[in-house]
Amino acid sequence: MSLYNDKKRVEILKELNSLKKKDFSFSSGHILGSMCTQPHPIAKEAYQKFLETNLGDPELFPGTKEIESKFITFISDLLHAPKYSAGQIVSGGTEGNITAMWIAKQLTGKKEIILADSAHFSFKKIESIMDMKLIKVPLTIDYNMDVLKIKDNIKDNTAAILGIAGSTELGTIDPIPELSDICLDENLFLHVDAAFGGYVIPFLKELNYQVPDFDFKLKGVSTISTDAHKMGYSVIPLGTLIIRDYKWLDEISVESLCTGSKKQSGIFGTRSGGPVAAAYAVTRYLGVGGYKKLVENCMTITKYTEEKITDMGLHLITKPTMNVLGIKLKKLPEVINKLSKYGWKVNKIDHLSCIRIVIMPQITKKIIDKFIPILRKTCEEVGEL
Ligand SMILES: Cc1ncc(COP(=O)(O)O)c(C=O)c1O
Repeated sequence: MSLYNDKKRVEILKELNSLKKKDFSFSSGHILGSMCTQPHPIAKEAYQKFLETNLGDPELFPGTKEIESKFITFISDLLHAPKYSAGQIVSGGTEGNITAMWIAKQLTGKKEIILADSAHFSFKKIESIMDMKLIKVPLTIDYNMDVLKIKDNIKDNTAAILGIAGSTELGTIDPIPELSDICLDENLFLHVDAAFGGYVIPFLKELNYQVPDFDFKLKGVSTISTDAHKMGYSVIPLGTLIIRDYKWLDEISVESLCTGSKKQSGIFGTRSGGPVAAAYAVTRYLGVGGYKKLVENCMTITKYTEEKITDMGLHLITKPTMNVLGIKLKKLPEVINKLSKYGWKVNKIDHLSCIRIVIMPQITKKIIDKFIPILRKTCEEVGEL
């Protein structure tokens, strides 16, 4: 008798399919506000192949472990990490930030994090889970951390400074070179949250965009987090935390007697090799040249979208640094609700009174050409225009 009952299978798949129909899909092109994406086809194939692997038990899966090392090497090279650096696979930007702050707290024995208002909300979780305190520094008119306000906030209890390389709301980049100098002078830990920008800024630089240095070329940078499930064009959940000194991994490692390796680092125990294989497959498929083209295309469509939006008489919060646009609106909830009714999903940022549009790899000029008349119609209907 087969253990796999076909009648049940059909019934379950029917239920799953009907629930899935309620979801929006990236392939429709109607999701304009998310930093995630429809994964590259090679990522989907690789993911399937490694579904049953467990990187929490590398003795059983040495091949998958090798893939993990190769992937970490790709990201480390991209970020100019020194030879003695280390990499920790994480589930995404949240875990990347938590893990970085875990290291900072362990190394310094201190509890205060200096950061800008534009920091991702995962820092609120850090405050709660790790009993750390957030010390807020105001933003400049360009929505970047005001470096002139940092020194006054450095105290005996400062554990770390956060620099953001691609903010969640507007894709802005903090002045990381200046933060690096401060951290070198004051002997402080500097974490760079490049969850979004990690797969954008290196390629913007190659494309001659004027963006600040943000990576390990700057000697004061201690850790950098990047997400493969954002602009890395891969499957959820996958991020990487690159750590300047491999010895710091000891701060987040415990003995792991039953898994065949002596130590296990990071938060998770059992974790799938699927997303790691997928992210590695995309890096092999695209390489630096492929990512550069992808970013070039996203930036071209960002510029195109910016022009269409300003032609319409709407205004952006700030000129896009990368492929993120914040459109100022007076009638924010009305516009969002109407757009949703028309089948378009953008992101609502209440405190800036704007909608966020992220031009991810699946967003084409054709999609923007469909969206713009709907946005205009919506704005006219609710009295925004
Ligand atoms: C800058 C930044 N950091 C961290 C995160 C959190 O990432 P995740 O949701 O993958 O945990 C995000 C998510 O958008 C982000 O934009």
